[in-house]
Amino acid sequence: MRKKDFLLLSDYSKEEILSLLTLAEELKRTKREGRPHEFLKGKTLGMIFEKSSTRTRVSFEVGMVDLGGTALFLSGNDIQLGRGEPVEDTARVLSRYLDGIMIRTFEQEKVETLARFSAIPVINGLTDFAHPCQVLADLLTILEHKGGFEGKTLCYIGDGNNMANSLIAGCIKVGIKVRTACPKGYLPDAGLREWAQNAGDYLCTDDVLEAAQGADVLYTDVWASMGQEAEAAQRRAVFAQYQVNEKALAVARPDCMVLHCLPAHRGEEITAEVFEAHADEIFDEAENRLHAQKAILVSLMRG
Ligand code: CP
Ligand code: NVA
Repeated sequence: MRKKDFLLLSDYSKEEILSLLTLAEELKRTKREGRPHEFLKGKTLGMIFEKSSTRTRVSFEVGMVDLGGTALFLSGNDIQLGRGEPVEDTARVLSRYLDGIMIRTFEQEKVETLARFSAIPVINGLTDFAHPCQVLADLLTILEHKGGFEGKTLCYIGDGNNMANSLIAGCIKVGIKVRTACPKGYLPDAGLREWAQNAGDYLCTDDVLEAAQGADVLYTDVWASMGQEAEAAQRRAVFAQYQVNEKALAVARPDCMVLHCLPAHRGEEITAEVFEAHADEIFDEAENRLHAQKAILVSLMRG
């Protein structure tokens, strides 16, 4: 059987996503109860980072340790990939040493090529296009706090970036209604928007209050992503109204939760007050990166 990768949530069926979430819940309980769960004993994950990371790096590394395996941090600058060795060759070399690869990079295409040329599972740890590991953790957090997905509405406010794309893909798959409020010229991927409109209940607007109306979850992310540092000042002007704040919360459901993939810029995409009032949810979300990714690792690498 051909190996499986975790590149995009749109590659996964609703049933596959739900079964990853069930496994994540089980692994979370197992860890909390201190029971051993060394399902990947003797296995090694290579982690290629061409962008910075706190959560992704630490949660994958701790996840592999919990599962009885090892993780190798491979900085993009320090491996030959950074000096132009083709990704096709990197894939075939690493496949001879490792049992799985996690990669964080710029182009989605690079991750797809790595996966195509690897004999071992490849996990997308963020590209400019998608952040599927984050959204699996977000779904786990929504499940825990809301008890289910049916009839729930998630509103994303801000840049139509990798987070917006993966939230649309993941939420629509599991039956959550999605509203995105993004300024013109900064919309989520056009193909995903069209797919979401056909596959589920999706509204794309530039009006924050229209999108936030009746929401069960308000979600936001930075206005300038990694790689867009030079545009930060111009983006601050474009996105000034695209903030999760008291006004947005006032039109959402009274029990609305607030999520943020982190890192957060208080006073930009979220106010400090709203961030602190919802810190428990946001840090549960960060913790869930660990449990959700352990489910991905076990499902792809257990053999
Ligand atoms: N949310 C997230 O992916 O965080 P890091 O960039 O710290 O990995
Ligand atoms: N959109 C952000 C997400 C960080 C986790 C970025 O790509 O920098």
